[in-house]
Amino acid sequence: MHFHRQANWVIKENRATDEALFLNRRQLMAGAAAGVGAGLIAGKAGALPAESRFSPAVPRAGGFPHATSPITPERINSTYNNFYEFGSSKSISREAQALVSDPWTLTIDGDVEREIQIDIDDLMRRMPMQERVYRHRCVEAWSMVVPWVGFPLRALVDMAAPLSRARFVRFETFFDTEVAPEQKASWYPWPYTEGITMNEARNDLAMIVVGAYGKVLHKQFGAPLRLHLPWKYGFKSIKSISRITFSSRRPKGFWEELNAREYGFWANVNPEVDHPRWSQATEKPLGQDDRVPTQLFNGYGAQVAGMYAGMEGNRSTWM
Ligand code: MTE
Repeated sequence: MHFHRQANWVIKENRATDEALFLNRRQLMAGAAAGVGAGLIAGKAGALPAESRFSPAVPRAGGFPHATSPITPERINSTYNNFYEFGSSKSISREAQALVSDPWTLTIDGDVEREIQIDIDDLMRRMPMQERVYRHRCVEAWSMVVPWVGFPLRALVDMAAPLSRARFVRFETFFDTEVAPEQKASWYPWPYTEGITMNEARNDLAMIVVGAYGKVLHKQFGAPLRLHLPWKYGFKSIKSISRITFSSRRPKGFWEELNAREYGFWANVNPEVDHPRWSQATEKPLGQDDRVPTQLFNGYGAQVAGMYAGMEGNRSTWM
C-alpha cells in the first residue's frame, strides 16, 4: 500500500468531470432499462451491459491508498448484496432493478446556510470524479475489493456549507413501498439511515460513490449514489441516498435503532472485538476459497486512527 499525504490531492489530481460523461450516463440508464427487459442484467449468470462505461474513463485517484488485494469479480459482487429494501437474502439483484434511479434528487438540509435540492447529474458535474480501489468489510465477516467511481464526501460537505454548530451528518435512503415492498415490513425502522461525525465526513477516505468497475452504479450497489467508508463495517455505507442532513445531535442509524447491542454508531473494524454472535478475527473474501485475517480499521489505520485517539478502550468504538 502506498500513501503519501497531500493536503489537496483531491482537487489537484483530478479534473472536472467531462460533459460527455453525463450525456453518456443518461444513455446508460435507458440502455440498462432495456437490458432488464431482455433479461440481461443481474441474473446469477446474467451478462452486464457492455456499453455502460463512463466515457471518458474517470481517472484513478493519485497519492492514495488503493487496495492491492485482488479486485472482486464484478459478476460475483453484483449478485451477492445486502439491500434490505429489496429483501433480506443476498440475491436481490433482480428485485433491485425496480429502483427508479433517474431522475434522482438529493436534498441537503439541517444545519446548513440554505437547503439545497440538487439533481444527481448536476451534482456529478460539480464534483471532482475519480476512481478508488477500496476494501469493504461487512460486519457479517465477508469482504470485497471494488474499484469505485465517485468523489470525496468532503467536496460535498464544502458545497453544503454547514453551520458551525453542525457536528454530525445523517444520511437517508429513499422510502417508497411501491418500489421496495419490503419497506412495508413494520419491524424495520424504515427508511434506512446512517450517521457519522463531521470529522469523519471530512476524512480523505470518505467517499460518495456513483459508479463501480468503470460503470454507472448498478441498482443493487445502491444507485445512483451511496456512501463508502472503508474503515468501518459495511452497514455504515448506506445506499441510494436521497437526503443528507447536518445536525448538532448524533443520529441513530437503521441497525443501531434495531439492535444497539450488536450494531453501534462507530462500527470501526477491529479483528480483536468480536460481534456478540461471531468472531471478527477473519473474513471470507467474495470469490476466494480461503479466509484471511481481518485488519484493524480494515487496513486504513494510517489515515483514520487519529480520529479515535483516546477511544480505543471503549467497546463501542468497534461495534
Ligand atoms: N444501504 C441500504 N439502503 N440498505 C441496506 O440494506 N446494507 C448495508 C450497506 N448499505 C444496506 C445499505 C450493508 S449491511 C452492507 S455490507 C453494504 O451495504 C453492502 O453493499 P454491497 O451490496 O454493495 O456489497
